[in-house]
Amino acid sequence: DWTSDVFIDSTVADLKEKIGADKVVMGLSGGVDSSVAATLIHRAIGDQLTCVFVDNGLLRKNEFEEVLDSYKHMGLNVIGVDAKDRFYKALEGLTDPEAKRKAIGRVFIEVFDDEAHKIEGVKWLGQGTIYPDVIESVSVKGPSATIKSHHNVGGLPDFMKLSVVEPLNTLFKDEVREVGRALEIVETIIGRHPFPGPGLGIRILGDITAEKVKTLQEVDYIFIKGLKDHGLYDQVWQAGAMLLPIQSVGVMGDERTYEKVVALRAVGSVDGMTADWIHLPYEFLGKISNEIINRVKGVNRVVYDISSKPPATIEWE
Ligand code: XMP
Repeated sequence: DWTSDVFIDSTVADLKEKIGADKVVMGLSGGVDSSVAATLIHRAIGDQLTCVFVDNGLLRKNEFEEVLDSYKHMGLNVIGVDAKDRFYKALEGLTDPEAKRKAIGRVFIEVFDDEAHKIEGVKWLGQGTIYPDVIESVSVKGPSATIKSHHNVGGLPDFMKLSVVEPLNTLFKDEVREVGRALEIVETIIGRHPFPGPGLGIRILGDITAEKVKTLQEVDYIFIKGLKDHGLYDQVWQAGAMLLPIQSVGVMGDERTYEKVVALRAVGSVDGMTADWIHLPYEFLGKISNEIINRVKGVNRVVYDISSKPPATIEWE
């Protein structure tokens, strides 16, 4: 029978034996998986683990500062890297979703590699890969290679001659959360919705600019805070906003406006492989829509996505 305590004890023992006196480097994303994986590794080998948390400029509003703070409180040895400009520069003019993913993945590896090289004698790369990631990345290699490339799985560049340690690669998300709670990781991290590695980069349809990121961060912040304030956040697997590459006509006072449209999305799921749109209360949607249009400059229309997966995907890109 699987219990989180048994899993933790045996995993920590395995990690100790496997890693010994070696050093491990690991990228943290602020998400549940990498946080739980890092905590397990930290339990096993303490400060032989160095974590790297990269600000790619595509995170949620205030996310970098808040999450970095939580990690420090958890006792993790973590380096925060502000690489926003490197990412924006690499993304300039890119509109194709896969091209954007590749650029984000490539810059992440460059930034991460720079940091890893500063640690003397590191032998291992820690990863927060969970079981469904393993399955999805296998299907990417299949004959219909049109499925999105999940840049944060596998795919180690040759120049990083590190062995991989993935303590969660047999677990599903709900098990990861159970383990995280048993490890007493704060609920703001454990209960967090999944968030894609490329972040807002694949929620801004078309090309990415710092200004668009700022707009979407404000929209997303109002939506997510609203879900939390109305007790809806925990009933949703994943939620977010998409900034659409179109403008629509609106009216403000006597003036005609021609501004951006955002789409809100909230889905229920167990593993992200299939998902149903959530029937959020109309009153809630109305309130959030008003708040967004009144408060976020440059947005004059809000729509709600009522598509399920399949055939739609959770993300729009
Ligand atoms: P889709 O859009 O394929 O998303 O239904 C399924 C789950 O995967 C996340 N997702 C990604 N995660 N890198 C990631 O790390 C990616 O490129 C990526 N694309 C989608 C998505 O947020 C959802 O949880």
